[in-house]
Amino acid sequence: MKRRNFLQGVAASAALSVFNSAQAEAVIASADARADNEDFWRSIRAQYDLPDDIIQLENGNWGVMSRPVMKEYFAQTQKVNTLSSYYSRRQFLPEFFTIVKQTAALLGAGDNEIAFTRGATEALMNLISNYRGLKTGDAVMYADTDYDSAQAAFDKWQQRGMKRIVINLPEQATDEEYVAFYRTALEQNPQVKLLLLTHMSHRHGLVIPVKEVVAEARKLGVDCIVDAAHSWGQLDFTVEDLGADFIAFNLHKWMGAPLGAGIMYIRNGRLNDIAQAAGDGSEDTSRIYTRVHSGTLNMASWLTVPAALEFHSKMGGGKGSALKATRLAYLRRYWWQQLADIKGVELIAADNDHAMGAISSLRLKGQTSAEANKAIAARLLKEFNIFSVHRTGLAGGACVRITPSVFNTTTELDQLASALKTMAL
Ligand SMILES: Cc1ncc(COP(=O)(O)O)c(C=O)c1O
Repeated sequence: MKRRNFLQGVAASAALSVFNSAQAEAVIASADARADNEDFWRSIRAQYDLPDDIIQLENGNWGVMSRPVMKEYFAQTQKVNTLSSYYSRRQFLPEFFTIVKQTAALLGAGDNEIAFTRGATEALMNLISNYRGLKTGDAVMYADTDYDSAQAAFDKWQQRGMKRIVINLPEQATDEEYVAFYRTALEQNPQVKLLLLTHMSHRHGLVIPVKEVVAEARKLGVDCIVDAAHSWGQLDFTVEDLGADFIAFNLHKWMGAPLGAGIMYIRNGRLNDIAQAAGDGSEDTSRIYTRVHSGTLNMASWLTVPAALEFHSKMGGGKGSALKATRLAYLRRYWWQQLADIKGVELIAADNDHAMGAISSLRLKGQTSAEANKAIAARLLKEFNIFSVHRTGLAGGACVRITPSVFNTTTELDQLASALKTMAL
């Protein structure tokens, strides 16, 4: 598809979508909120501006805002821009701390256990590079499934005299096997004192049993930094369900907030294990905000978070976020089931007893090179108008990632399944 056509499509769909929240809300309220009720999810889709000439199945990069959230974001941007420093110096903080309280409550965290960041990356970088529990001779560990820049930040420990150990997780295993795998890896490497865990891998959507792994690591004197960039909003959980002391979250992926919003979590009692952020000069270091220093930031993005949380809970149809999580898993299973018996398609991290969300990946006919998978994603776009992305980094080889979101229809997934069947021939 030509870029000009794509952009024309974006403009056309934006022009067609006249915002009418009352109408859309009426549909949401009246529809039977179930994971498999296409009418309900069509009413959700109607609240998004989407390009009409591609099938967007690469929603892992970041999460577009629904129209009510975008409207709020525009209003907040206008407010902040109009009032300028008069707002930021006098009114922002009280307003913002109310938002922090609301977000912390949803996450099951204390008010001084979370700090807003510009994304999961900023949270991860502060947690990893300012962790104070390592001494020369200790080692750090991460897996092939972890996020590239988090791996790179762990690699930097080598410059400070620590050893780095990389493990490759099996692509297919039960929860118990993943826990045993991590336990064995830690037992075989007793010098490891810090472990990176990714709740839901961005490479193939694998969800690991974080709470159990954290508990095993704790027994062995190992701290865990958990990357939950993809999982909050995609799965239904609170911090207690992860049991970790240090966690990074995103608000601008699956919670549907504007770009520039994430969360750093440090459990009560562990603040002193993360050094004060470079650039923070506070004498009183008892507040979590002394552990991240973002400079002047996009206040409008953070001020829009309540609208995003409200829209998120609407997709639960009054049942919290469980319905949304169930729908996302339903969409993944929906297209997987159509390909389960197709020999030329390998579904990575395929169903077993552990949770999964929308993200998953596939390989065609055992093709594992980055180039081959780039070509598969390119063919999906060129011949079938389906947008996906290739991923590298798994020990088992490159793959193509498919990530539907709440606005994708089962009809679009039928088209994906049909395209893959053709390509697997
Ligand atoms: C697993 C994982 N961790 C962390 C991040 C970083 O998130 P962000 O770039 O939004 O800060 C990403 C981004 O895609 C990710 O996939």
